Amino acid sequence: MPKDHHTPSSGFDASTAHVDADGYARMYQASVQDPDAFWGEQGKRLDWMTPYTKVKNTSFAPGNIDIRWFEDGTLNVAANCIDRHLETRGDQTAIIWEPDDLGTDAPQHITYRQLHDKVCRMANVLLDLGVEKGDRVVIYLPMIPEAAYAMLACARIGAIHSIVFAGFSPDALAARIQGCDAKLVITADEAPRGGRKTPLKSNADQALLHCKDDVSCLVVKRTGGQTTWTARDRDCLALMEEASDECPPEEMGAEDPLFILYTSGSTGQPKGVVHTTGGYLVYASLTHEIVFDYHEGDVFWCTADVGWVTGHSYIVYGPLANGATTVMFEGVPTYPDAGRFWETCERHGVTQFYTAPTAIRALMGAGDDWVKKYDLSALRVLGSVGEPINPEAWNWYNEVVGGGRCPIVDTFWQTETGGHMLTPLPGATKLKPGAAQQPFFGVQPVVLEPTSGKVIEGNDVEGVLCIADSWPGQMRTVWGDHARFEKTYFGDYAGYYFSGDGCRRDADGDYWITGRVDDVINVSGHRMGTAEVESALVAHEKVAEAAVVGYPHDVKGQGIYAYVTLMDGQEPSDALRKELSDWVRAEIGPIAKPDLVQWAPGLPKTRSGKIMRRILRKIAEDDFGALGDTSTLADPSVVDDLIANRMNRT
Ligand code: WTA
Repeated sequence: MPKDHHTPSSGFDASTAHVDADGYARMYQASVQDPDAFWGEQGKRLDWMTPYTKVKNTSFAPGNIDIRWFEDGTLNVAANCIDRHLETRGDQTAIIWEPDDLGTDAPQHITYRQLHDKVCRMANVLLDLGVEKGDRVVIYLPMIPEAAYAMLACARIGAIHSIVFAGFSPDALAARIQGCDAKLVITADEAPRGGRKTPLKSNADQALLHCKDDVSCLVVKRTGGQTTWTARDRDCLALMEEASDECPPEEMGAEDPLFILYTSGSTGQPKGVVHTTGGYLVYASLTHEIVFDYHEGDVFWCTADVGWVTGHSYIVYGPLANGATTVMFEGVPTYPDAGRFWETCERHGVTQFYTAPTAIRALMGAGDDWVKKYDLSALRVLGSVGEPINPEAWNWYNEVVGGGRCPIVDTFWQTETGGHMLTPLPGATKLKPGAAQQPFFGVQPVVLEPTSGKVIEGNDVEGVLCIADSWPGQMRTVWGDHARFEKTYFGDYAGYYFSGDGCRRDADGDYWITGRVDDVINVSGHRMGTAEVESALVAHEKVAEAAVVGYPHDVKGQGIYAYVTLMDGQEPSDALRKELSDWVRAEIGPIAKPDLVQWAPGLPKTRSGKIMRRILRKIAEDDFGALGDTSTLADPSVVDDLIANRMNRT
């Protein structure tokens, strides 16, 4: 078990925080004891066209999974994110756009009034193309303001958007267009990223070859690069110029779908996760305000892509519902150099910065000087999301980036949950590096014994993480396949939402995510989180990054296979291999000692930065003939190197 550290967030002015420790305890109790009263009150943070009279109507009962929040209320998400702010903050910046390449583009400030104008125009373009309430629109765009306009334009007219990350291949795009039977695809000529350009339009053309003939394509000219032009293509910006800048928001039921987002599970094709209108927006807005301690005048930056749920909830919907200024970044952390994040924080006076551990580790490896060059004094709160953050990265983030002043909120959540589930709150929680710590309001975590499904009471326990009751941001179904929704999330442990993650509740009652349970390995009968071994490895000063998987072992059942990326300038050697194995043995215990250590110049990662463990497991199993789809990798060539230098040759 990793040691638990306590780090008071000294220097953070907790007196202005929305919630203190007592307030958290009181509100949490209220939220789970009387959800109708708690969420009935919280729902008022939105403007409703027809006020709701019912709040919670949810069932986790086997065979009858049915989740409804605020079901008789009506509202429009775009009106809540734009129109209602016009009177008081029409001239305030809603979106700061930071382009990939400052040599060719300048940052843009888009006010709420300008946002209204653009979204109405795009909504009218969609209507003119025959998109109606309930129709699906696939968005395949770079991180440009038009991506946010497109989301909000869909919301305004009641169309359901499904964003496909611009790094996905034509085949993946085609599967998603077909999966939700989309009427329209919105794309761009090219997506600049890290100085390179992805040919989105040409990808979309290839994808559309596999789709129905009547799917239209709206093209944003981003770079002006040459593209083919077919009968189905329309010029988005030209049509927006001509369109009216008024478009009344459609009245939507709280339970009408807002968006579909495809996400991969451990088995089968990606699932279309469905989020609806009222509960999702209440939850995105409340978590954004409380978890990041958002205040009027703050400049909020979430570095995710809108192609992932983090971008949906914490670049667009949460911040804009709260009338915030939100930063949208088109590029990557290391372009043109490893100072890009910090330079951007300085330029825009960013107050809350929210990123992923993988980025933190990469930038930590580049050295402190990149951070120290810039003035980060406006920063107040730091956030982490996507995977467990190892204490070394946490400490670096805290000390070097946050100057020891900024609480780090380690937010555990999922595409399926719509918003944060477990997270410390700034000013209210005594932080522990690497722990997501405590449930957000309304979230009832339970730890179950994995095989029997029995609830494990008490503290200092470990098991699988389930949630005992519904919260407003929860997904409602899998698009077109409610049975799959029931089976995937409620099939293993009757009556509970199953996260797919393992977790530990420590002696203080704080939660630590130990990683997906499909990543848990069993060594000589001992269950072990691969994240724990990785955390130990990266704690070594010569290690930049590590990924650990299990592989079949004659004696132990599974052995531990570690892929290790060394810090710049470190030389791989057998002596270092032994040093690292012994280090892990010393950090965690003999059972955690890696059996095989492979030097990995790079790890196979999705473009969102997630390590593709499936591939690592296959290589570790010496079964690389069956690697499956590698098209979603950021850099497929790393796989060849790993195969060539694999350690387990059966
Ligand atoms: C993992 C991203 C530990 C977890 C919002 C979850 C985390 C999966 C954390 C969901 C965290 C996310 N600590 N693990 N703070 N946040 N995860 O759907 O395994 O892309 O199940 O949503 O990421 O990934 P998804």
